[in-house]
Amino acid sequence: MANVIVIGAQWGDEGKGKITDLLSRSADVVVRYQGGVNAGHTIVVKGQTFKLHLIPSGILYPDTECIIGSGTVIDPRVLIAELDQIEELGISTSNLLIAETAHVTMPYHRLIDQASEERRGNHKIGTTGRGIGPTYADKSERTGIRMLDLMDSQGLRDQLEWTINYKNVILEKLYNLPPLEPQKVIDEYLGYAERLRPYVVDASLKIYDAIQRRRNILFEGAQGTLLDLDHGTYPYVTSSNPVAGGACVGTGVGPTMIDRVIGVAKAYTTRVGEGPFPTELDGELGELLCSRGAEFGTTTGRKRRCGWFDAVIGRYAVRINGLDCLAITKLDVLDELEEIKVCVAYEIDGERCEHFPTSARKFTQCRPIYKTLPGWQQSTSNCRSLDDLPRQALDYLKFLAELMEVPIAIVSLGASRDQTIIVEDPIHGPKRALLHADGSQASLLSA
Ligand code: GDP
Ligand code: IMO
Ligand code: MG
Repeated sequence: MANVIVIGAQWGDEGKGKITDLLSRSADVVVRYQGGVNAGHTIVVKGQTFKLHLIPSGILYPDTECIIGSGTVIDPRVLIAELDQIEELGISTSNLLIAETAHVTMPYHRLIDQASEERRGNHKIGTTGRGIGPTYADKSERTGIRMLDLMDSQGLRDQLEWTINYKNVILEKLYNLPPLEPQKVIDEYLGYAERLRPYVVDASLKIYDAIQRRRNILFEGAQGTLLDLDHGTYPYVTSSNPVAGGACVGTGVGPTMIDRVIGVAKAYTTRVGEGPFPTELDGELGELLCSRGAEFGTTTGRKRRCGWFDAVIGRYAVRINGLDCLAITKLDVLDELEEIKVCVAYEIDGERCEHFPTSARKFTQCRPIYKTLPGWQQSTSNCRSLDDLPRQALDYLKFLAELMEVPIAIVSLGASRDQTIIVEDPIHGPKRALLHADGSQASLLSA
């Protein structure tokens, strides 16, 4: 039995969907613990592509229970569309459960998110416009609607009438937008409630029961470490806690129940939206990574900004999440390059800096210090073991593992399940502490 958290180690879109799906074959329960429909997790199986926003990436396994946890925010309209899509493909959603304490994204959240971004002008965050920030703000302000409120028709009417009238003041007076009609919204959401009712449960109790029965639980993070509200590049972050600690808060599971934390990182870096990005590549190289990596947002279709691998933020992700190992994805995207750079440290005001600076202003001033490695200039997409990899590709991976002082357990070389090298079983293999006991930091890779 092992309870494992999968997190994004960069700015999101690292391939968490692919890795979670892959690991779900040894999981009994897969739980999403934060974020909402800002997330877009892609799974490719036998040429068929699934794009999931809220449903956990274990849904393709009929015997795996999938839970949308308490720390998520749920847009029922998008969730129902997602359920319909999955069911149309002949995949059952009867193994899905939704936490009754998860908060609900309402139409005014979406409107306020989009209008406030427009109002911010040059100071905009570049949100997905899906109402995520305003939903979490209401949760903190204690004016939120939870799934259990949605299930109580009379209570919902009372609560929504008051809340919508209150939000209408903001929409009309602050943003010059037309008001919402309370009755229309209430009727719409009561309809959603009926569709979602069979799925809504006390999720924390379900997870606890599964732990007691010694089931394997996989916690699936959305977004990434650098988008974390507390530990990311604030204010250019999302409004939840994607870091490993968020899994406990967002599911109601105590930290002593967690056995492992796996970080997912691309072999280079991408970022969507505004905010500092020291290794960003403008021009031809950035375009090449974008087109070879098909770097367009799963949720918004926006072009992702691309750059070299940044080991400073990598080390930061290892520290903040307590990573046991890494899954490196999209190595194949680098196949054509003659040489590849890795940021090993920053320079700020002429001084070398090995650590991620917490101030966004300081982070903007960071200039990357690069180490250049030779490329391999041949396809890796059909490699299925470390022995199949070109020597330079293996050296690149070893270099990353050494820099981040954490072993690499999985290497991904394409979007499909089979385009993967499992160096070491990240769930049942030896723990990091054991691997490091002999002082060899990249022992998984050289195994
Ligand atoms: P997530 O949000 O972390 O789940 O990542 P996304 O699904 O938003 O973005 C990752 C994209 O890369 C998706 O289109 C995946 O199908 C794709 N992908 C995942 N792993 C690999 C890989 O190793 N190589 C390539 N070329 N594509 C990959
Ligand atoms: P997955 O789970 C990449 C980014 C947005 C914006 C910032 C705040 O697919 O990795 P929000 O709408 O959350 O208030 O936007 O966070 N962002 C993501 N970037 N992947 C994601 O999710 C993201 N979810 C939000 O682009 O910069
Ligand atoms: Mg994504």
